[in-house]
Amino acid sequence: MANVVVVGAQWGDEGKGKIVDWLSERADVIARFQGGHNAGHTLVIDGEVYKLHALPSGVVRGGKLSVIGNGVVLDPWHLIKEIGTIQAQGVEITPENLMIAENTPLILPFHGELDRARESQNSVAKIGTTGRGIGPCYEDKVGRRVIRVADLADNATLELRVDRALVHHNALRNGLGLEPIDRNALIAQLQEIAPKILPFAAPVWKVLNEKRKAGKRILFEGAQGALLDIDFGTYPFVTSSNVIAGQASTGVGIGPGSIDFVLGIVKAYTTRVGEGPFPTELDDDDGQRLGERGHEFGTTTGRKRRCGWFDACLVRQTCATSGVNGISLTKLDVLDGFETLKICVGYDLDGERLDYLPTAADQQARCKPIYEEMPGWSESTEGARSWADLPANAIKYVRRVEELIDCPVALLSTSPERDDTILVTDPFAD
Ligand code: IMP
Repeated sequence: MANVVVVGAQWGDEGKGKIVDWLSERADVIARFQGGHNAGHTLVIDGEVYKLHALPSGVVRGGKLSVIGNGVVLDPWHLIKEIGTIQAQGVEITPENLMIAENTPLILPFHGELDRARESQNSVAKIGTTGRGIGPCYEDKVGRRVIRVADLADNATLELRVDRALVHHNALRNGLGLEPIDRNALIAQLQEIAPKILPFAAPVWKVLNEKRKAGKRILFEGAQGALLDIDFGTYPFVTSSNVIAGQASTGVGIGPGSIDFVLGIVKAYTTRVGEGPFPTELDDDDGQRLGERGHEFGTTTGRKRRCGWFDACLVRQTCATSGVNGISLTKLDVLDGFETLKICVGYDLDGERLDYLPTAADQQARCKPIYEEMPGWSESTEGARSWADLPANAIKYVRRVEELIDCPVALLSTSPERDDTILVTDPFAD
């Protein structure tokens, strides 16, 4: 039986929510393995719009187990609020269909405060984060002072963990001019939320390994995109977790050999929110048009996304670092009506041609995209459900993308509606 990992192959916002939802019908378990509520996945099912941030996309489908793995950072107050919103839309969420790994780190209110304080301190340190405390929580995890879900079950442990965290955080807050944390109030807040979270806590690594042995299909739902990966992204303008497919294994506690197919989600053009390099960014009418047609505003922060042409170099790179077996190309319809389309096929660095984005920041800044032009199409591709519905030039564009990124198209998505999808290769096929 196949287990599939879904990862964003650009800077996030590639349209993973719809594809994960589409695939989740074929899966038994849907597991988040990194990131937190910085993610924003929009699902449209029978006209009903669901906006998910912390919950795995599988929760909206009945009969599936949704899992929040240890690779995620979890804001318990946000989660309970999100569960309430989704339940109000008629979706049932119980410990039978949602499990949270006991070793998942918790995002606490001071993580968000620290994130926002740093972002507003000075322009040199600014990353353009979502301000949700993601980075500070991962820092505490690696610093061995984070509070994890299991710690909520025992008051003595909880107090010890809080004290450990505060030694570090109060010193830091002092330097930033922030008030020290009220220890007892924080402990009381955690004790108050504990009984709402603990019923969902489970040894996720064990459950998933048992499911795998029983032949159940697991769908690993990535958040953000590979260019925001802490190691392979455009550092330091990245998120604080590993986003690439290898993280699916450590983010839930399952062996790398359990992964059978990696599906990269790729938008037919490029967008980015927040600061950082973006070689094909467009600051003209074409960029404006991509943003308007593609409704490019962040699901989580509402920020306007930066837009640009498709960068085949970057996607070839992310397909390699994630071992992508096939891509799902999304939002092709946003390109409808452009007379000419451009694809970045390489970079000019001081007169030398490169086929990848170098790591050094000064070199990245000097990389000028080398474009290949392709004729556009005037017909609409929106809602196409077979290749026959696509104009010849749209097919040529897709084929050229496949060639340039050295990876085949497995799925083609032509609108937010789940059925507007062209299936080439079923990632779950045996
Ligand atoms: P953080 O993850 O909030 O620390 O933000 C770090 C960077 O990742 C910023 O540039 C954010 O805009 C970006 N980012 C985080 N989550 C997402 C996402 O789900 N989609 C797109 N960009 C994201």
